[in-house]
Order: sequence, then C-alpha cells, then structure tokens
Amino acid sequence: MADVKLAIIYYSSTGTVHAMAKRLSEAGEKAGAEVRLRQVAELAPEAAIGANPVWKQHFDKTKNEPKATADDVVWADAVLFGTPTRYGNLASQLKQFIDTLGPQWGQGLLANKAYAGFTSTMTEHGGQESTLLALYNTIYHFGGIVVAPGYTDPLKFADGNPYGVSHVTGGNNDAPLGDVQYAALDHLASRIVTIGGKLR
Ligand SMILES: Cc1cc2nc3c(=O)[nH]c(=O)nc-3n(C[C@H](O)[C@H](O)[C@H](O)COP(=O)(O)O)c2cc1C
Repeated sequence: MADVKLAIIYYSSTGTVHAMAKRLSEAGEKAGAEVRLRQVAELAPEAAIGANPVWKQHFDKTKNEPKATADDVVWADAVLFGTPTRYGNLASQLKQFIDTLGPQWGQGLLANKAYAGFTSTMTEHGGQESTLLALYNTIYHFGGIVVAPGYTDPLKFADGNPYGVSHVTGGNNDAPLGDVQYAALDHLASRIVTIGGKLR
C-alpha cells in the first residue's frame, strides 16, 4: 500500500534477528511502504561482547547503522519489533528502548498503529511464543493494534507461528534462515503494511 510508513526496530547480538529485519525491510518496500530499518543501541559491556567472537563481529559490522529513536515509532503507521529470545523474554536492549517511550505514550502518540513482532531462539521450544506475547503486553499499553499473522495464509502452516515470525538457530546458533522463514517474513511485512494503511 502506497505511502504507508513502516518502522522496523530490532536488537540482534549475533545477526539472526538482523537478517530477519533486513528481509522485512525489503518486503515492506516491495509492498509499497516507506521503511525505516533501525537497530536499538547495544547496552552490554565490551567484555561481554568481546567474549563471544560472533557477537563481537556482528557488533563491529553493524555499529554504525542508524539507531532507533522515539520519532521512528511516532512517525510510523506500522511498527515491527524484533528481538532474540532471552530466557523466554525480550532482550533488555529492546526493552530499554521501549522504556524510553514514556513521554510519547503519555501523549497518546503510540496508539492506533499496527504492531507485530519477530524473534529467534536457539531451541525449538525455547520461548518464541512467550517472547512475542511479552512484547505484545507493551503494545496493549500503547493502545496499539496487534496484527498477528495468525494462519491467514497457507504458508503460515509451514512456519507454524501465528503470533509473529520466528526462527530456530540451533545448537551452534548458526542455522540460516530458509525459504519457510523468508515466506513468513514477507507475509508479515505485506500484511502489516496493508493493515497499517487501513488504520491510517
Ligand atoms: C542470555 C541469553 C539468553 C537466551 N535465552 C534463550 C532462551 O530462553 N531460549 C532459547 O532457545 N535461546 C535462548 N538464547 C539463544 C538466543 O535466543 C539465540 O542465540 C538468538 O535467538 C540469536 O539471535 P541473534 O543472532 O539475532 O542475536 C539465549 C541467549 C542468551 C545470550
């Protein structure tokens, strides 16, 4: 849908959620949206990042990419939040960003938009649904409209997550995104652009 503004705001340590966000960005543009792809700031101490070579490599590669601001959420008609699962919950880096939005929440500037989430875990039952549901608790407080993908397309029976889109990275944390995940990401992006446009 033309002229819909889509913000994709995410955190990623080792690149999986980053790759998901990039795919969503491309799909959002294909669906006609103006897209802002923004990572939230890293908060972990240098020592923690340095102790994991993959995290360090991803941090160095992406540290100069544009950072999310409150205006990116206010600006958008539709917002996709992405986070790796942390003990079945959001990463603190994304939560910290969300926790800076109090002034915009207080002015009602976060309400009446379309929101959805995406995540990744190492293990199959490692908390993807609990992470997305935890994220959506916040959206209710915004007065946002949760645009769950549900099973609104047959492809959702392949990725199997009606709450959003998710990926399992496996024991070595390196399983790449495949056709099933790409299809689910493309579907999520086009659906939220359509519904964000209708809400606007
Ligand atoms: C502190 C911490 C907690 C984690 N908690 C979980 C978890 O609850 N379930 C799980 O399957 N994976 C868990 N993981 C693995 C990450 O979710 C996985 O590496 C991540 O989804 C990869 O995303 P990224 O490459 O975008 O950083 C955890 C990782 C860390 C560092």
